[in-house]
Amino acid sequence: MFHPRPYIVGIGGALHLGSTTELAIRHAFAGADAELDVFAGADLDLPLYAAQSPAQTPAVQRLLRALRRADGVVIGSPGYHGGLSGVVKNALDYIEFMRDDERPYLSGRAVGCIANAAGWQGAMSALAATRNIVHALRGWPTPLGVCLAGPQKPFDAQGRCTDTGVDRNLRALATEVLQFAQWQRHSAPVMAPRPAKVA
Ligand SMILES: Cc1cc2nc3c(=O)[nH]c(=O)nc-3n(C[C@H](O)[C@H](O)[C@H](O)COP(=O)(O)O)c2cc1C
Repeated sequence: MFHPRPYIVGIGGALHLGSTTELAIRHAFAGADAELDVFAGADLDLPLYAAQSPAQTPAVQRLLRALRRADGVVIGSPGYHGGLSGVVKNALDYIEFMRDDERPYLSGRAVGCIANAAGWQGAMSALAATRNIVHALRGWPTPLGVCLAGPQKPFDAQGRCTDTGVDRNLRALATEVLQFAQWQRHSAPVMAPRPAKVA
């Protein structure tokens, strides 16, 4: 379908591997004709973003390299106290390094947002916060965001999805990310270049 296949970057989960949002990101793109790189677990163990002198560790550079190449992005966060987890937000803060890129921040890329919490209120507020952040970063939140909540985990010990509704929603979200990447790939420039001097 695509040549090369669209490159999708997932950011999510927690400092341990196998969190629900990490599994959700992986499941969403399972079987898709896309290359998925997920930053989870130790990948998210980045120094706290320091505004005056942000760190440029190898892990930070790897994340930024991936995001600069990305055709689409997925962000998954546990809901903590009405917002995202600090670990996920801290990783997103490093996107400030992309402010002066030719494609600043996440512009031109669809961003699927996933939130998982103990209750629906926590998941909903984390999802809304994530979508606000994506807007601030000039990304395009997909029309469908996915909330997961409740005592029953929708994945088994092997990471397989056990809930048909969750499966359907995650695949729909991934489809929207990939569809947008395809549109972007085939779109012609919409604005003529600015004249050298504006009267
Ligand atoms: C510090 C902290 C704050 C949390 N705050 C909320 C909350 O406000 N609302 C809620 O429903 N769940 C809350 N939870 C529960 C987590 O959202 C839930 O356990 C987590 O998403 C599990 O996800 P995981 O399987 O990906 O680790 C909180 C958990 C922690 C550790």
